[in-house]
Parts: sequence; structure tokens; C-alpha cells
Amino acid sequence: MTTILKLGGSVITEKDQPETVDEATLEQVVDAVVDAYEPGKFVVVHGGGSFGHHHAAKHGYSKTDGTRNATAVTDVHRAMSVLNDAVVDAFQARDVAAVPVSPLSVARRDAAATLSFPADGVETALDEGFLPVVQADPIVQEGAGATILSGDEIVVTLGESLGANRVGLCSTVPGVLDAEGNVIPEIDDFDEVASVLGESDSTDVTGGMAGKVQSLLALSAPAAIFDPAALGPFLRGEDVGTVVDG
Ligand code: IPE
Repeated sequence: MTTILKLGGSVITEKDQPETVDEATLEQVVDAVVDAYEPGKFVVVHGGGSFGHHHAAKHGYSKTDGTRNATAVTDVHRAMSVLNDAVVDAFQARDVAAVPVSPLSVARRDAAATLSFPADGVETALDEGFLPVVQADPIVQEGAGATILSGDEIVVTLGESLGANRVGLCSTVPGVLDAEGNVIPEIDDFDEVASVLGESDSTDVTGGMAGKVQSLLALSAPAAIFDPAALGPFLRGEDVGTVVDG
């Protein structure tokens, strides 16, 4: 049983303060993972929060709009690597053999924007007992220069290639909310919820909640969206937040 967990950028960073880790929440989520951790069965992915989005927005590129400016690529990549170091270090401080994984070196999109992310390195890392910690990153795209690869897309592609059975997105909200602010327990069709999926409240170059739900509907395994308070229960196998099951 392989679990893929994405830590939302807004969860582990102060989203409105450039390049600031939310140390208290990072510690809280890492503790919850360590309690449930089994070597070789776990992959952590993280988003950008205040480390990625503002650099990408400043340089005018996103998941769909590319750039050929190398500085735009390195500005986002280096900031994301600083955040990745913080996550890896937090796990290593609790004696988990976490190692960084950077998609920029291995992933690409073709001219139709179809993503390819070879997973053999991640698989070998798992077989060797490491915890791969994969950062959202810029990646090259045929005909467009470079675009942003979101953590949600990484979860979907690795979820498929590793045959993950549990997929979780730890976000700042307790799930996808309906018009009254209640958590929608299950989503199996985008059109049913399109009207309630608003825009993200901070600079977000990868599509907010609507993009998240659309990515997860493409995944074979069911995926849960929940907040840090529900991470422990999720890892113990409970149904929490919103389950997206296309
Ligand atoms: C985008 O990743 C990160 C970058 C801008 C490099 P995500 O879209 O997964 O990030 P969060 O979780 O929303 O911050």
C-alpha cells in the first residue's frame, strides 16, 4: 500500500509573506506523517506557497503560459529548493530518511502539454527505504520554453505510475466547500461543483481549488482533500474532508 501525500504550499508556508516557512505547521504535519510512516510506502509532494507563486507571477509564467527566460526558471526552482530543504530537514530531524526530488531535471511536457515524469528514480528511492520529497517545480515544455508543474499534477502522475492506493492533499481548508460553506463529502463529476469552485485568494499560478479537483478527477485512486487537523485521521485510514473519485 503506497500513500502519496501533498502538503499544500499554503499549509507549510506563510502564503502572504515571501519565502517564509510556517515552521509550527510544518512540524505538526511532519509529526503526523512520522507517526504513520512506513519506509518504502510513502511519498511526500509539496506545493509552492510563498516560495513559488510570486516568482512565477513576477516572470509572467504559469502551468499553461511558458517562458524562455532562464532566470525565470531558476528563480522559481531555487526558491522551491529552499522550501524542499526545509521539508527534507524536518523529516531527517525525526530520523526519517527523506531525500529531495526535483522534477526540473527529469519531467517534461510535449507540444500538446501532456506531462511525462519518469518515476523509476522515485521507485528505486522507495525500494531503498528513502522517503522521496518531491517539490513542485518549473519543467521544460516542447514549443513553450518552461511552465510550472504543480504539486497536484505530480500527485496525479506519480499516483498513476506508482499505483498509489491512498492519495491525500493537505490544504488550508477542510475540503471542497459548497455555497453554504459546508464540506462536500464526495465529488465524482466536475460540472456538479464548477459553480462553487471559486478562485484562490492569494497569487496562485496553478489554478486554485478548481484546478485541484480537475487534476484529481483524472486519477484512478480516490483522493482526499482535507486540512492539517484531519491529517492524522487520514493516515490512520479514515475518510476525511472531500473525497474526489473520478
Ligand atoms: C506550484 O505548485 C508551485 C510553484 C509555483 C512552483 P502548487 O500549485 O502545487 O502549489 P500550492 O500548493 O498551490 O502552493
